[in-house]
Amino acid sequence: MVRLLRALLAAFCAFSSLASALLPITVDGNMFVDSNGDPFVIVGVDYQPGGSSGYTNSASSDVLSDEDVCLRDAFLLQKLGVNTIRTYTVSPWLNHDACMSILNSVGIYVILDVNSPLDGESIHRDDPAGSYNEGYLKRVFSIIDAFMGYPNLLGFFAGNEVINAATSASVSPPYIRAVQRDIKNYISLHANRTIPVGYSAADDNQLRVAGWEYFQCKTGDEDLDISRSDFYGLNSYQWCSGRDNFQTSGYGVLETTFANSTIPLFFSEYGCNIVQPRTFTEVNGGVYTDSMLQVFDGGLIYEYSEEANNYGLVTIGSDGSVVLKQDYINLQNAYEILTYTSFMSKSFIDTSRSSKCNASFIENIDSSFNASLSLPNCPAEDMLKSGSGNNNIGKWIPLNSTQTAYKVYDVDEQEITDTEITVVSDQTQPEAQVSATTSAVRSATSVATSTATGSSTSSSIVATTSASASATSSSAAASTLAGAASPLLLAVTGLLGITLAL
Ligand SMILES: *[C@@H]1O[C@H](CO)[C@@H](O)[C@H](O)[C@H]1NC(C)=O
Ligand SMILES: *[C@@H]1O[C@H](CO)[C@@H](O)[C@H](O)[C@H]1NC(C)=O
Ligand SMILES: *[C@@H]1O[C@H](CO)[C@@H](O)[C@H](O)[C@H]1NC(C)=O
Ligand SMILES: *[C@@H]1O[C@H](CO)[C@@H](O)[C@H](O)[C@H]1NC(C)=O
Ligand SMILES: *[C@@H]1O[C@H](CO)[C@@H](O)[C@H](O)[C@H]1NC(C)=O
Repeated sequence: MVRLLRALLAAFCAFSSLASALLPITVDGNMFVDSNGDPFVIVGVDYQPGGSSGYTNSASSDVLSDEDVCLRDAFLLQKLGVNTIRTYTVSPWLNHDACMSILNSVGIYVILDVNSPLDGESIHRDDPAGSYNEGYLKRVFSIIDAFMGYPNLLGFFAGNEVINAATSASVSPPYIRAVQRDIKNYISLHANRTIPVGYSAADDNQLRVAGWEYFQCKTGDEDLDISRSDFYGLNSYQWCSGRDNFQTSGYGVLETTFANSTIPLFFSEYGCNIVQPRTFTEVNGGVYTDSMLQVFDGGLIYEYSEEANNYGLVTIGSDGSVVLKQDYINLQNAYEILTYTSFMSKSFIDTSRSSKCNASFIENIDSSFNASLSLPNCPAEDMLKSGSGNNNIGKWIPLNSTQTAYKVYDVDEQEITDTEITVVSDQTQPEAQVSATTSAVRSATSVATSTATGSSTSSSIVATTSASASATSSSAAASTLAGAASPLLLAVTGLLGITLAL
């Protein structure tokens, strides 16, 4: 009997650590944090099969709308070892419930860009005034409506590489802060939780530093300070594996320059491909070292699928089958030996820093940079308050399947026959079906953490947004906990049955 109890206890513990619902990630000082307040490190990849040109407004599918495709890629992303993906372009009108629920079940968060490459669906970098209008904000707010209901939505990118040269730097920065303000106001009026909002910067040594100072700084005026970034992503291809090391890559300079950030920083794209196949020495030798993690909260490797610019980890065939590239294997090997969980702790979080806005300080970093904080007014105040009108509000659904119908092949073109995802998060129940027995579950539920890496140099990708949940208590978080309850009990009952049978 004692032995049986011990076995049951062991089974319960083993399962409860697996059966973790993904809870919203929030921001604390310079780090993303999980629901325990521990640092959340992004280990991820950028994910946009088909590239940005594959997107049209009238399409019947986007990269997060096809359940079977998502099962296929969730299997491969899980095997790869990522906890986050960044997606650049989706449609606000399509249903993403299956894909977002599948990603949640394998422990993967999503950082989403709000923009698209289509006309009128992003801020024009050299003519921001002409593109910042009601039609544009309808797109942005509709995206928020479609994704705010998913607890594994980590954050929104309000813009990607909008500032990329002297002309754009001289006109667009105040517009990006204005868009961030509008997104954050919309979230606080219409979403059930805080969702982090940030910006993804181009690989330009001066402009990205000026941009970081501008987007993180505070004035003390609350109405203005809501326009700050909650996080800042760097698209950086400085370290080419097979060519560079910590010194030659300039990572040392990055580490000193961005020390003392008041907001989380991460590589929103990285993974230079000048030497192929990539060996990803920048993963264990750079991004996830102790000293870099004091400054950068992980990163996203550019990119999941092979496209015209040759950054893929896998090749997707026209029949939907997938063949792994050597890059996939090499990145998987790199992730397998990550050691950061052995040294990361709450001590990496610093909430004491501050950054006061000083336009001349920023313009001294780059003279072309417009650091003005007289922001344009929101051109859609009524819609901001009343809502975008998009009734396509995303929500959790139970998984229909854990098995893709598509074929997957390894590097040697041998078929991988077991392509079933491993469910590690049980947040698969619609809120309405969940009762509120959360307190017992709270301690048994651990939060899955995820990281993502990615890099992109493609100019065709216009803008992305991502948001991370910040630490406000939210009904979404509560219902996520509630959602964990009944499946957990069911699972324990199931294990009980197995144990008794033994
Ligand atoms: C799951 O299966 C049910 C019943 O076959 C179907 O109605 C529903 O559309 C499926 N859901 C998804 C997301 O495919
Ligand atoms: C927000 O919470 C309310 C009340 O629980 C619920 O009806 C609504 O569906 C939730 N919205 C989202 C986007 O989760
Ligand atoms: C960061 O802060 C430390 C301690 O205040 C200071 O010595 C250092 O110069 C700062 N670094 C930068 C780049 O501002
Ligand atoms: C603003 O920055 C300029 C240039 O670096 C500096 O001279 C000035 O003292 C700063 N102002 C304040 C109030 O810190
Ligand atoms: C900076 O941007 C603001 C807001 O767009 C604009 O009014 C101002 O003219 C710009 N400053 C310069 C020097 O271009």
